[in-house]
Amino acid sequence: MTKPIDGAIKPRRMQFNTDDMKMAQFAIENNSLISTFFYSLSAMFPEGERFFIHAVRHYQKSISDPKMLADIRGFIGQEAHHGRCHDDLNDQIEKLGIPMSMISNNMAARVEMLKRRFGPERQLALTVAMEHFTASLAEFLLANPEVLDQAPEAFRHMMLWHSVEEIEHKAVAFDVYRLQVDNEWMRRRVMVIAMVSLFSRIAFFQVRILWKTKHMPSFTEWRQAAKFFWGKKGMLRANAGGVKKFFQRGFHPNDIDQSALIDGWEERFPEVAAQQV
Ligand SMILES: [Fe+2]
Ligand SMILES: [Fe+2]
Repeated sequence: MTKPIDGAIKPRRMQFNTDDMKMAQFAIENNSLISTFFYSLSAMFPEGERFFIHAVRHYQKSISDPKMLADIRGFIGQEAHHGRCHDDLNDQIEKLGIPMSMISNNMAARVEMLKRRFGPERQLALTVAMEHFTASLAEFLLANPEVLDQAPEAFRHMMLWHSVEEIEHKAVAFDVYRLQVDNEWMRRRVMVIAMVSLFSRIAFFQVRILWKTKHMPSFTEWRQAAKFFWGKKGMLRANAGGVKKFFQRGFHPNDIDQSALIDGWEERFPEVAAQQV
């Protein structure tokens, strides 16, 4: 079991040098299918994370427990900072001809629709589901940081720092949900919707990027990407195990132990820790 974070969840002030980032158009693993997956995620993060903040903030005023209130403030601070950093990164990736603003505009419209159509309970359930995915992705990146070796420094640093904080705050939205909503059926039903919508949206954005850049992935790229996502230690295969646990009755994010990946991360990634200001 992941041990709960001692003390408050603290947002770190980071400064990444995204100016004049030199990078190949498809820099992640030198593969367009893998790169477009990460670019799509990065383009979705700022709007997505502002939505998570909105969903949790709705319940903030109904909570009196000081530890939970401190965790919520930490969560909001971390997610707000992630969004701003990814905005900077996305501006640089856009310069490579990748339509990042098309994706973020699409996300903004989607978020507005969700705020209109979903009540606060479902918005929070959706946040819980998405936070599960971000923690799973974070686990994969911290366990396999070499997948970012060919990415530019700022990109690699940002993704690793973001991963650490995603694991640190992974239970915050969940704990608020359990305290304020506590509907297991809705939690699982919304996860099904979230899963279908997230992966179909990413695939749609990947196609749009490849179309815009007029890049046709080669057979080798398809083969590498299949291994990267679905191979023995593949990212999505690893993710699937965690999703199965999420559907168990009484599941809590700390049931999945990811603490070894964030304990002592400053020593393992001193170059990332050095970006703190
Ligand atoms: Fe985040
Ligand atoms: Fe998060």
